[in-house]
Amino acid sequence: MEERKIEEMSKFIIHGGAKLGGNVKISGAKNEVLKLIPLSILLDKPTTISNAPHILDVKRQLEIFKQLGGSFSFNGDKLILDGRNISKTKLDPETAGKLRASLVYMGPLLARFGSVSLPTPGGCQIGSRPIDAHIDSFCQLGAKISNEKECIKIELSKPCQNKVNLSKTSVSATENILLYCSAINQTTTITNCAIEPEIVELEKKLVKAGADISGIGAKKITVTGCKRLSIDTIEVMSDRIEAATFVVAFLSVGGEGTVSPYPKDNLKAFNNLLKKIGADVEIKKSVAYVKSGPIKPFRISTSPHPGFPTDLQSPISLLAARANGTSVIEERVWENRLMYIEQLKKMGLKAKLINAQKVEITGPAQLKATKIVSLDLRSGITMLLAGLMADGKTVLDEAEIIDRGYENIEKKLRLIGAKIERVK
Ligand code: EPZ
Repeated sequence: MEERKIEEMSKFIIHGGAKLGGNVKISGAKNEVLKLIPLSILLDKPTTISNAPHILDVKRQLEIFKQLGGSFSFNGDKLILDGRNISKTKLDPETAGKLRASLVYMGPLLARFGSVSLPTPGGCQIGSRPIDAHIDSFCQLGAKISNEKECIKIELSKPCQNKVNLSKTSVSATENILLYCSAINQTTTITNCAIEPEIVELEKKLVKAGADISGIGAKKITVTGCKRLSIDTIEVMSDRIEAATFVVAFLSVGGEGTVSPYPKDNLKAFNNLLKKIGADVEIKKSVAYVKSGPIKPFRISTSPHPGFPTDLQSPISLLAARANGTSVIEERVWENRLMYIEQLKKMGLKAKLINAQKVEITGPAQLKATKIVSLDLRSGITMLLAGLMADGKTVLDEAEIIDRGYENIEKKLRLIGAKIERVK
């Protein structure tokens, strides 16, 4: 588990109460770009990724890439990756332990070298985060697993099977087996795939690079791999979770503005919720026009795509805090992703945990400023927005947790009128 060095972390000082107003520009998707970096290990020449966000998790994923022997340059939004000199197959436990997405080096390294060693995943604030589905899928293809100290070693030089059934609908397990099968000389059928938009994008980009994939976007796909994948340029899709987070910001803190590019087709469940609660949000082309106003209470449960995204579960608790009445939010993807509720109750939110997965929130709440902490990335941004809703000064520790997935967050918020500063 990542040792949080509190002394290295900075804090946000938030002066709440002001309405927001203006236009927010959405960056490239964290949960796509973090997989494109391992993908480049499979390419036979350098590739240029555009619209890449400067966020902490990308920095960390690139540290691992460099440790393996890869080289890169990152200027503006252009990230050039060259994985040709990669020779190592063992991830450094210290750097890989900092982010769960390091798991997605598994498939590419196995495809290229037939072996990979990675640290046993640390649990973290939102759950134990096991990797059984990842290991199981490669074992179905004949992989040999051995445990070294605090590391798992997987060896698979020649698959003995051409079908894999994922034991869990897991985003990164789907990505690992997809990347692996796209780079070996055989046709493999994969069933029970996760179908998040980031996975659909990855499938499309692998086809552009030379793989043959049928059933793109479906839970069952057939992949004919190619040993020599290459793709000159890749454009990162807009970050749907960041876009929805800023819609919640306008609706919960108050005010009006636009969020663009707004990937509405990748946010259907969220858009349905906005309609259900009577939020004043109009989407024209790829711009969301948002205006705060009265909102109705709601009941929602998170589930894998196309269900309601778990990464928006904590931000929408602020819509419940604004709503006139009692809402119920249920987290059904991660086992422990409601811990932020205690922090919001410290700020005066009327909330009752029905069980570890379900919370009842009664609004409208007038939140009080106080000292709060971020537990994971999405609860961190939720606490930051709660600080903007509360009258007075809120101190939010460990700002870097939010930097993991939100590019230039205080700059973007200041541009729409938020009073926020970062102090070391
Ligand atoms: C990805 O994580 C995202 N991260 C997460 O976003 C997101 O919450 C999650 O998918 C679900 O949508 C990235 O893409 C970098 P999973 P991932 O494997 O792939 C269990 C954010 O805030 N599971 O789909 O790690 C697991 O414990 C982050 O941007 C197993 O039991 O998620 C969890 O309960 C947070 N065994 C559930 O499945 C396994 O082998 C979903 O996990 C794998 C997963």
